[in-house]
Amino acid sequence: MTEDPSAWWRNGVLYQLYPRSFADSNGDGVGDLVGITQHLDHMQWLGVRGFWSSPITPSANFDWGYDVKDYTSVDADLGTLEDAESMITAATARGLKVILDLVPNHTSTEHPWFLESRSSRDNPKRDWYVWEDAKPDGSLPNNWQSSFIGPAWRLDELTGQYYMSNFLRQQADLNWWNQEVRDEFERILRFWFDRGVAGFRIDVAHMLIKDRELRDNPPATEDDQLVEQLRGQRQQYNSNRPEVHEIYRRWREIADSYDPPRLLLGETPVWKPSILASYYGEGDELDLAFNFILLESPFEADAMHQVIETTLAALPRGCQAVWAGGNHDVPRFATRWGGNSPARARAAMLMLMTLPGTPFLFAGDEILMQDTALTQEQLRDPLGVKLYPMPVGRDPERTPMQWSGEPGAGFTEPGVEPWLPFGDLSVNVADQRDDPHSALSLTRDLIALRSELPDLHLGGYSRFDGPEGWWCYRRGEQALIAINLSEVHGVLEAVSGQVRIGTQRSRDGEALVGKLALEPDEAVIVRLEL
Ligand code: NOJ
Repeated sequence: MTEDPSAWWRNGVLYQLYPRSFADSNGDGVGDLVGITQHLDHMQWLGVRGFWSSPITPSANFDWGYDVKDYTSVDADLGTLEDAESMITAATARGLKVILDLVPNHTSTEHPWFLESRSSRDNPKRDWYVWEDAKPDGSLPNNWQSSFIGPAWRLDELTGQYYMSNFLRQQADLNWWNQEVRDEFERILRFWFDRGVAGFRIDVAHMLIKDRELRDNPPATEDDQLVEQLRGQRQQYNSNRPEVHEIYRRWREIADSYDPPRLLLGETPVWKPSILASYYGEGDELDLAFNFILLESPFEADAMHQVIETTLAALPRGCQAVWAGGNHDVPRFATRWGGNSPARARAAMLMLMTLPGTPFLFAGDEILMQDTALTQEQLRDPLGVKLYPMPVGRDPERTPMQWSGEPGAGFTEPGVEPWLPFGDLSVNVADQRDDPHSALSLTRDLIALRSELPDLHLGGYSRFDGPEGWWCYRRGEQALIAINLSEVHGVLEAVSGQVRIGTQRSRDGEALVGKLALEPDEAVIVRLEL
């Protein structure tokens, strides 16, 4: 029987890396594509089935990759198109799939399209972006707020109009009502698919299309998400518009026209499972849409269970959830969920690797890297710089991968200053690799067990009653996951079977006869005796 072509993302664990921070092959302090290629053995050894790289395309680097200047070449800091092709070939040869990052909502204001568009009101590319006059009273075209604080409109002195910009002023929103923009992105998808790219992660997938009439957003109410309350408005007219689905149906046709079909994975920071589910269409839009509800949830039994249950109930038949504990935009889960407790961070890892759906790890999670504290001078993320000392910048989770405890951290040459400072190098891959009790061994063993036990990658999810503060769930018939998130030792009665993996590794293989005892922050996977 041939393997289902979607098995790699349906059954496997995937990995995200931030290319500037992964591995520097040429000693300039910035990670690059050759560095990624040189570390494919790590991913293969870890057991992940593929990786998503944050953008590799040329960027003006105001938003470090997410302000794209050209969609079909490679940023000079990261390498060349040939390096990208070699990376894809080498990864594919090892059975690792490569997912690239597509940023279709906006381009850099240095992109040639935008330079043309802004050059005059009648330039043929004028309509590729959203240009508007001020209102007759001189006020802004509408009340929309940028996701990065402040109005979403920037005045262009040359032509006297405002361009829409829902992130930094150096990022101009494309006009997705324009057919030429759509045609261009179809060409871009094919450009990379033709080079063997296995799929795309789509940046701000929920925002591409904006209300055609540019209606004002309504004020936020206390029922809205905290970010919307902070912005003072519900993003009703600049996100989750119904017409965005047409785009994904079309992209899905393109992705499915390849053999094997390519993966479409959305960045979908939405807070209602029903809205998240809409991005899967009727199984004819995105294959996977990232679940930010879990990502933003506290590590508490009831809260997380509810996210899982409501998400699974909302997804269309045959569609699968995708979970991450972190990414390049949010604090690392070892810090956020783990707090000061390494045991709790290990429990979070066990939880992530046993969820019903595709788990993603962010490079460094496998060794339970923590966020790095930075001084004001060390900040590179414009959000962090602008809002300092508020802890909203994204540099702490983007510091270089900690390959070893040696000078240069195995990331760059000794003595070279990395683009962001190193974190605590006592946490590193080299030291953990051969230690059976390390976080890295735990992660690797969990990935292997997930693949070995069909219940863990295919089985349904159901909550299992446990002591107060525990989160217990079954996957399929035989796998029981128990996590003691309370502050006290406890016992789960009427459980017999065998501990397959415990966060305290000395428990691996333990026979359970009628009960399971767990310390606070301890977690286990049990193969139940039925
Ligand atoms: C989401 C990306 O993950 C983030 O890093 C970026 O700043 C915004 N989209 C804008 O592209």
